Amino acid sequence: MVKAKTRKILLLPGDGIGPEVVREVKKIITWFNKNKSLDFSFTEELIGGASIDANKTPITDEVFFKSLESDAVILGACGGPKWDNLEFSKKPERALLKLRKELKLFANLRPAICFKQLVDSSTIKPEIVSGLDIKIVRELTGGRYCGEPRGIEPIENNQRKGINTHSYTTEEIQRITRVAFDLAKKRKNKVTSCEKSNVMEAGVLWREEVQALKDKEKEYEKIDLHHMLADNCAMQLLKNPKQFDVILADNLFGDMLSDEAAMLTGSLGLLPSASLGAKDKNGKIRSLYEPVHGSAPDITGKNIANPIATILSLSMALRYSLDLDKEADLLEAAVQKVLDDGLRTKDILSPGKKEVSTTDMGDAIVAKLK
Ligand code: IPM
Ligand code: MG
Repeated sequence: MVKAKTRKILLLPGDGIGPEVVREVKKIITWFNKNKSLDFSFTEELIGGASIDANKTPITDEVFFKSLESDAVILGACGGPKWDNLEFSKKPERALLKLRKELKLFANLRPAICFKQLVDSSTIKPEIVSGLDIKIVRELTGGRYCGEPRGIEPIENNQRKGINTHSYTTEEIQRITRVAFDLAKKRKNKVTSCEKSNVMEAGVLWREEVQALKDKEKEYEKIDLHHMLADNCAMQLLKNPKQFDVILADNLFGDMLSDEAAMLTGSLGLLPSASLGAKDKNGKIRSLYEPVHGSAPDITGKNIANPIATILSLSMALRYSLDLDKEADLLEAAVQKVLDDGLRTKDILSPGKKEVSTTDMGDAIVAKLK
């Protein structure tokens, strides 16, 4: 038998519920190795607070270099109250921001899909969210998260000043716009780009450069492009979310709009994300996959976290980085079947459904792969 090509997956469980949800992903990778003759090799390393405790740094150079060599990196979560008082540059979240920046993961894809089985888990009326399927494309390496100058500095009268700079160049705006347009072409061809061009120059530039790319490139001729102020978009997401197909936003607005969109679907525990970089000279795209939820310290260690967001992050990795679309379909179908059977973790529990633990949910999904 021809041996399948080895695909290297780096697992970074991190903090809080991270290790609990990544454990379920390991079960699935192991199942694929055994039953689909795939040859995944996976290693597991510390990141975030766990790495601070063991190595005094949120990410060691060794782990960073491993992430460069991997075909896909899957991360659980970074951060927690234990490390909240550390100096800014030493906080667990720095590891995540370093990976995004150094791997040049400028495109963050965050789907918000309301599964039909879970319409009642949303706090929003069923008719508003049923059938919801939107993708947020968030710029991830620029804007206010990264701009210079930044810092906290003393000023007169014993006061201090906090500074973060919001800036974007034409190139940064247009490369993320291409991602949104290319994605829209495979969907409904509709893109809504968000900024605050009514108050910010960088917002004016964002609007102009997004429009200019559409006007310039014939391949984007059919894109139905809309511009919307980001605060209005936040409001429209609650009022009529199904008007959206692809939402394009900068780093900060994308952060906020994606949490909001996530909650429309019922739970943050359901939503995966992919962070993608540009192709390198060998045609390889650097990538990082992680659930949109955080480390959830309030439920850590209780075996009640929802592993679906992380499992669907693996599915995105299968699709975007590992060239395994069929396996991704199989995994997504298994998640659907388990939901059809009425199994629910606590965050998505509704009357008449069966409450299961994190590990039971993982086992049930593995069982449905067959
Ligand atoms: C996210 C998170 C991160 C962010 C934090 C943990 C740094 O909120 O991925 O949305 O703000 O980007
Ligand atoms: Mg966020």
